[in-house]
Amino acid sequence: MVTISVCLGSACHLKGANGVLDAFLALIERYQVQVQVQMAGNFCQGRCTEGVVVQIDDLLLTQVTKDQVFDLFTKYVLNGENE
Ligand code: FES
Repeated sequence: MVTISVCLGSACHLKGANGVLDAFLALIERYQVQVQVQMAGNFCQGRCTEGVVVQIDDLLLTQVTKDQVFDLFTKYVLNGENE
């Protein structure tokens, strides 16, 4: 099980958090990995200038854009690199 949390605070929202979240949800649907992935939204992580902030299990990622989501999904969900 991989837990992916996207910061939904206002600064990250302005930087495209919803697009990042939607991109993860679309890939989960496309690859039918709903049982492997738990998606969540976080409140502000205190790293507003570095948004969008995404946490994958214990790993905190900053400056995430929706264009990076496929690579992150492949690495951490399909290939399980954070396990
Ligand atoms: S709003 Fe995302 S870190 Fe503050």
